[in-house]
Parts: sequence; C-alpha cells; structure tokens
Amino acid sequence: MMLILAVESSCDESSVSIVRDGKTVLSNVVLSQIDIHKVYGGVVPEIASRHHIENMTIVFEEALKQANVTEKDIDLVAVTEGPGLIGSLLVGINAASTFAFAHNIPLLGVNHMIGHIYSANIENEMKFPLVALVVSGGHTELVYMKDHMSFELLGETQDDAVGEAYDKVGRMLGLPYPGGPLIDKLATQGKPTYTLPRPMIDEDSYDFSFSGLKSAVNNMIYHMKRKEEEIRVEDMCASFQQSVVDVLVSKLIKAANDYQVKQVLIAGGVAANKGLRTRLFETIKDKEIIIPSMQYCTDNAAMIGAAAYYTYKQKGALSDYILGGQSSLDY
Ligand code: KG4
Ligand code: ZN
Repeated sequence: MMLILAVESSCDESSVSIVRDGKTVLSNVVLSQIDIHKVYGGVVPEIASRHHIENMTIVFEEALKQANVTEKDIDLVAVTEGPGLIGSLLVGINAASTFAFAHNIPLLGVNHMIGHIYSANIENEMKFPLVALVVSGGHTELVYMKDHMSFELLGETQDDAVGEAYDKVGRMLGLPYPGGPLIDKLATQGKPTYTLPRPMIDEDSYDFSFSGLKSAVNNMIYHMKRKEEEIRVEDMCASFQQSVVDVLVSKLIKAANDYQVKQVLIAGGVAANKGLRTRLFETIKDKEIIIPSMQYCTDNAAMIGAAAYYTYKQKGALSDYILGGQSSLDY
C-alpha cells in the first residue's frame, strides 16, 4: 500500500490531497482563488503566487485532518512540477519539498497534464490503447497512450487553448471570469443562429486553432454594436460552443478511429462542458468514453496523487529535494 500526499498550485487553485495507491482519494482540499481574480477578468500571476503562500499551510493541514492521517503515514510526497505559472508552481514545490525533507519522505515531481489525464483513472479504469483529449485553460492536447505512462502527442493547439478562448469570448460578452462554465450554461438557453468558423476541421492533422474563432466572435460583436443591432448573448454562446464542440469531437473521433483505440478519455477544466459531454455520448457509440466527475476536471491535487503513483512506478522518487520546471511536451 502506498499513501501519497499530493500538492497542486500551478494556476489559481491551492490544493492538497491524500491518495491511496493512485486510486482511493482520502481527501482532496481545494482552495480556489476565482473570486479574487474575477475583479481583473483573469488570473493575475503575481497575486496568485501570494495567495498560494497564504493558503498552502491551510490546505496541507486540512487534507491530513480530513484523511485522518499524520505525516508518519505518508510514503511519498508528490507535487506539480509544471507546466503552469512559474511563481505559483514554486510555492507548491517549496511547500512540498520542505514537508518531505522535514519528515524524511521521498519527493516526486509530477507533470500537470499527466495529472489531468490520470484524473480519469480515479473513478474509472483506463483501458489501452486509448486516446485522451486534455482541454483546459492553458492546454488543448490530443494524446495517444498504448499503455500506462506512455504518451504520444498527436496534436495540440497552434494558438489559444480552448478554455482560454471560452474565457475571452466570455469577456467579450460581458460575462464574469471564468467565462467557460457560464457560456456552457447560456448555450443551453440559445440557438446556434450565428455563423462562425470551425478552424482546421478539414485539415488532415490532429492540431487545433481557436484564436481565429475568438476573433470571428469579436468581429461579429464589433459590427453588430456599430449597427446598433441587438446581440443575443445566449445564441452567441450556443453558436460558439457548437463550433468548438464540432472541432474537438471531429478530431477526437478521427484519432480514435485512426489508432483503433478501446477507450476515449476527456480531461481538464473544459471536460466539465455539458455540450461536449452530450455530443460525445451521442456520437461515439463503439468505444468506451471516460470522463472524470466535475471535482476532478478542474485543477485539484487528487489528480496529481493519481498520476504520482504511476509516475513513481516508472521513475522512482527524487532524493535531492530539488525540482525544476517542465514544459507541456515533457511527458
Ligand atoms: O483545468 P483547469 O481548471 O485549469 C487549467 O489547467 O487551465 O481549467 C480551467 C478552464 C477555464 O478556462 C474555464 O473557463 C474552463 O476550464 N471551464 C469550462 C467549463 N468549466 C470550466 N469551459 C467550458 N465549459 C465548462 N463547463
Ligand atoms: Zn489544469
């Protein structure tokens, strides 16, 4: 049995979780800073780092308390090493390495994207080969896995991440940050009556692009405002969401068929999107679809604990308590 204490602080969530054998979540404490960054319409990195410092001890103590364990029970400390905001990452890394060093526990750095992928293995069982679509505020990646901890990046966004496009379109429509969940909600109340592009949908690659779609919404709003036309916000949300879902699902199906996978996995903040979930289950009938529940879609430390278990099996732990940064491609 392996009890892992996992730490996540790559963006604006300070989180600590206690996970047994990569599967059983004993506690998953998440302190979100959304309300703080809302005022600025997006995450302000410097403010995020400062709040992580204030929150870190609280989430550490609460996670241990809720799991009813002490530091003596912990076999491994795991922490998000990257990708993410460097200042935010450093707070988690310092807290995790100090805790590990003080209690003489091995330390392991975990890739945030692998964390998102393995979040789907908490409530479900991964079956290989699989194709994973990781969609978040910072990333849009299509990854092929032939086994545990084997990652082949098939495609990724050439510009904006899909969550970022959601948040920016939200801002154009005057919605509070983060726009993603709100656009998703409003889309159900509107009709996709506005004509928007579906970038790269016909291209023979697994790459994505969302900045042109974002600009198309911006131009449309600009012209409508000039002509003093009424902008039907719900319809714009429905139109934007339909474009996004069309592109994501078409590329995902292409990869799933080309690679003849057993399973299709969706993870990351945008995997919470109801439009995307509904369309996937409507269109993919011959493959198993696994999506984490909402609490594991957005950033949380349980997913880092889940990924840490398999990362440890592959790499072992670091012993020198010094971790560096990681780019998105360093799977
Ligand atoms: O994974 P995550 O918590 O943080 C990153 O690693 O980026 O993802 C946050 C992103 C935000 O852009 C947010 O707007 C988006 O996920 N998001 C959604 C939904 N819920 C969260 N986007 C579309 N529909 C949703 N229901
Ligand atoms: Zn994330």
